[in-house]
Amino acid sequence: MRRDTRIRRDRPRLIEARSTWLAGALVAAIAASGSTTASGRAAAAGRTGKPSSAATDYRLHCAGCHGAGGQGGTGDDLRGLSDTPEAIAAVIANGQGKMPPFRRKLSAGQRRRLAVYVKGFK
Ligand code: HEC
Repeated sequence: MRRDTRIRRDRPRLIEARSTWLAGALVAAIAASGSTTASGRAAAAGRTGKPSSAATDYRLHCAGCHGAGGQGGTGDDLRGLSDTPEAIAAVIANGQGKMPPFRRKLSAGQRRRLAVYVKGFK
């Protein structure tokens, strides 16, 4: 019984210490990466765990045509695509119709992660 109350009293202090550390790490990560560049933001986002870099890439390169939720606009509605991630990654790399190619702007890994990401639009 005595042991139980001791653990409960210790816990809030532990959480407090950890969130202080996290806030410090976040500030350091943003400062180190140069928060004004897209890659800096993506790197900072990667280190804090969210948003994912695919989400950041989508916002930067795709949302303007396909909409924030993949609902479409200038570009096609991307919700519920049945294509494989490989086929989608190929469209991203090579472009299609009025869609420009992203081979030079995005790495193979970024294209692959984006393909998986857009398949998540429902
Ligand atoms: C300049 C506007 C534009 C941008 C930017 C753009 N797209 Fe597109 N996208 C289009 C258009 C237009 C189409 C339809 C192409 C066609 O005629 O088949 C398309 C088609 C697609 C398709 C195929 C959809 C289908 O039904 O087969 C996918 C997947 C896709 N885009 C993903 C992306 C991703 C991911 C990005 C960001 C890296 C992106 N697009 C950026 C305009 C754009």
